[in-house]
Amino acid sequence: MSEPLILVEILPQPAKVALVRFNRPKVLNALNNALAIELETALQALDADPNVHVIVVTGSEKAFAAGADIAEMSSQSFATMFNQNYITAHWEAARNVRKPIIAAVSGYALGGGCEFAMMCDIIIAADTAKFGQPEITIGTIPGMGGTQRLPRAIGKAKAMEWCLTGRMVSAQEAEAAGLVARVVPAEKLLEEALATAAKIASHSLLSVMMLKETLNAAFETTLDQGLKFERRQFHASFSTSDQKEGMQAFLEKRKPAYKNQ
Ligand code: CAA
Repeated sequence: MSEPLILVEILPQPAKVALVRFNRPKVLNALNNALAIELETALQALDADPNVHVIVVTGSEKAFAAGADIAEMSSQSFATMFNQNYITAHWEAARNVRKPIIAAVSGYALGGGCEFAMMCDIIIAADTAKFGQPEITIGTIPGMGGTQRLPRAIGKAKAMEWCLTGRMVSAQEAEAAGLVARVVPAEKLLEEALATAAKIASHSLLSVMMLKETLNAAFETTLDQGLKFERRQFHASFSTSDQKEGMQAFLEKRKPAYKNQ
């Protein structure tokens, strides 16, 4: 049996948190098509699993992922890439996950690695992490969302400079630019990412999914439409028992017991 390309566990602690690890250490977790298919299957299963509220995706100490697999791509033609719908066919699955995904990034997050991290909802980086879109240095351009998500995250000037030079960016610079939510000591990366996941998992899953959907609408629409959508979602939350429970628990100075209803 060949090694799985990703490792998936639903953790005993913290509760309701799943951990997914890229598992191609010999090639710095280069992201090939087979891995994308395994990841798509796993993410869809975790999204449907009521015992999971938050997904943490990580790599190894040396590499979150050093990009799409150059060996797999190098001899491909336009026709084969297009016919396979390369990237869109499987990687976009992450975008359809309704539960929060946290990328816990240590080491290299380059090319598709950086782009996959950007498909996640929160990036927490080890102080050793290195981000970048080096595709330009190998005769191509970002293809997994880098030209679209990076400027949305850090603005056009910085995104252009990062992508056109292909240079590597430290965790500290990535945080200052707004790509990364938090930088933590490398040895505490998983602990910090899981603590963040646990905090999110303590909320009503219903509210968490509504919030993710609503915040993501900010990237897809006008301010007016986005505000209207937010207002409808906010009003809709008053039809849930979790809203009643959350507010009642506050008034009674106790912890809420959510039913995700
Ligand atoms: N694809 C395939 N194999 C890769 C890889 C990748 N993206 N990145 C690293 N590897 C392999 C190397 O070929 C090497 O394999 P061998 O041991 O068989 O030679 C192994 O991983 C270890 O890598 P290095 O010896 O290069 O390790 P290093 O520590 O000297 O350098 C690195 C690390 C700077 C990250 C370097 O490996 C590197 O530059 N990797 C490529 C980064 C890159 O260009 N990523 C973009 C890919 S294209 C893309 O992602 C397109 C897209 O948007 C969808």
